[in-house]
This record gives sequence, structure tokens and C-alpha cells, in this order.
Amino acid sequence: MRDIDRIRREITQFQLSDAVQLEAFRLQFLSKKSELQGLLGAIKSVAPEERKNFGQQVNELKQLALQVFEEHKVCIEDAALDVQGGGIDLTRPAESLTLGSMHPISIVMNEVIDIFERIGFSTVSGPDIDDDWHVFSALNFAEEHPARDMQDTFFVDVHPDVVLRTHTSSLQVRTMETQKPPIRVVCPGRVFRNEAITSRAHCIFHQVEGLYIAENVSFAEMKQTLLYFSQQMFGAETKIRLRPSFFPFTEPSAEMDISCNICGGKGCSLCKHTGWVEILGCGMVDPNVLENCGIDNQRYTGYAFGLGIERMAMLKYKTSDIRLYFENDVRFLQQFTAATQ
Ligand code: DAH
Repeated sequence: MRDIDRIRREITQFQLSDAVQLEAFRLQFLSKKSELQGLLGAIKSVAPEERKNFGQQVNELKQLALQVFEEHKVCIEDAALDVQGGGIDLTRPAESLTLGSMHPISIVMNEVIDIFERIGFSTVSGPDIDDDWHVFSALNFAEEHPARDMQDTFFVDVHPDVVLRTHTSSLQVRTMETQKPPIRVVCPGRVFRNEAITSRAHCIFHQVEGLYIAENVSFAEMKQTLLYFSQQMFGAETKIRLRPSFFPFTEPSAEMDISCNICGGKGCSLCKHTGWVEILGCGMVDPNVLENCGIDNQRYTGYAFGLGIERMAMLKYKTSDIRLYFENDVRFLQQFTAATQ
């Protein structure tokens, strides 16, 4: 029993601060030839009335030695790692980097611009907040035209003449006022309309306006340019059709549909079972507009078109709710990481 007390003291007082001392500890207390092992072997030769108590004490001693050994082993190994890696576990797998993505509206916008830049259009931008002249009057909107109505237009309170632009056609005017023909531009931008937000409409959206003014520009040229654009954007098999329409700033005017790229023209809910989806408005620039912008309408003609980016994104990414593009839900946006690279 005296040995037990002594060994207990030796265990608790043993200097354990490096691997060499740890090994010495193991040899002294845990190896087969250790004194403690000898005591364990001696249990059976102790007198029966003392055996239980003795056995218990020796076993507790063994547990103590094991516990001290394990605790110091972990500390000493950790310290060794710290020395190697300066406190960093170099074997740990790296955390994956979360990549950001470009917003799908920017991706589609850039794609539209790229397609037109490849055939000689340059890009022009202008103010989101504009005046009545650039948004309506110069574009031949009659004084009583419903687009000027409170239902549609956000007016800026401080001045009745100042509005959030309802379309990027205002940039046609700004371009014609400052450039001389030939003019060949696309004008991307954000537009605003006082409309209820639904799965198909939003009060903010994006458009790209196109304008080409030169001598002898024809409707046929416009048609071919828009066919080229549609096939670049939606695939070589895409068909277009033009329907007569009305815009104050073009004469004649048309709306253009593309064959539905979701059902391939067979009919689905997106194309309302017609096989066609509208993507833009277009037409020959009205001579009044040319005159309003200081361009000789006897010498020059031109075409213009305006397309909606959200509509295009919905077709391209097969999404049925426009609100997804404004909510910034990362689960939605993360899906565009690959398209960004
Ligand atoms: N500005 C029209 C809109 O917001 C779109 C448009 C139609 C633009 C015909 C044009 C055009 O340049 O020629 O709905």
C-alpha cells in the first residue's frame, strides 16, 4: 500500500512537457515491465481479506496513469503541430470560396448589347429621371395621350415636368439631338411605370432601345436586323413575325413576336398556346420625331425598336414570375454563377 501512495505521487508530479518525457512516463508507468504492472500482477497473491481493497487501489492508479498520459499526449501533439504550421492545421481541407454572380438582368442586357455591337451599333445611356419633352413630347405623344396619365407615369413631385422615364425611347431623342446621321445606337436602361406588381408586370423593368438613322433606311433592313438579333439570342431555328401596331413615334409601327422557345412553337402556357411570344415594339421613325430632334426628314429615314429585358430573361431562363428578378433571393441568383464566368 505504501508503494501505491508513492507511485501516485510520482505520477502526479511527473514533469510532462515534451515527447521524450511522455515516452519516459509511458515506460515508467504503463509498460509491461513497469512497477505498476508488477502491482497489477501481484493482486492475486494478496491475502483474500485485503485483496479487494488492494485491487481497487491498483486499478485506480492504472486509470490515473492512463488519464495523465492521454491528456498530455494530446497537448504535446498539438503543440508540435503549432510549431510546424504556425498554429494552422495545414492538413485541414480548405473551405470552398463562394462565388458571386452577375445579376441575370445584367447578363441578358450585356448579351443584347454584344449582339448589336457586333453589327456596328454603339451604346448610349442617359438619365432615369427625365423631362416631358424627352419622354413624351418630342416622341410625338399627343397632349392627351394616356401614357402621360397618372396611372402610368411616376411624376417627380418637385416639378410637374419631371418624370421617371417610362421607356428608353427618351434616349432616341437625346441621341438625335446630339449626333448627326448616320446614327446607329442601342440604349439600355431602367424604366418605371406606375403599375401593380404581378407575376407578369413590375413597376421597374429594363429596356434596350435601338435606333438607326441614315439615308434610305428601309423597313426590310429593320426586319432583317431583328431576325439576326433573335436568332443570335434564342437560336438559329428561331422565327419572327411582325404584327401591325401603333406607337406615336413610329409610322408604320409593329410588334414583333418570336416563335416560343419553350414549346418550340407547339403551344404552352407561356405563349398562351399560340406558339408565339412578343418581345419588342418597332417601326420607322415618324418624320415628326426626326423634325423635333433637328434631323432633316426629307433626307433621312430610320427605324427604331424597344425590347424588354425581363421578358427576354424569362424566355431565356424559363422563369414564369418576373418578381424573381427583383427580390435578390440568393438561391435564385446563385444559379447564374456559371453564366457569369
Ligand atoms: N417605347 C415602347 C415601349 O415602351 C417600345 C418601343 C416601340 C420602342 C416601338 C421603339 C419603337 O423604339 O419603335 O413600349
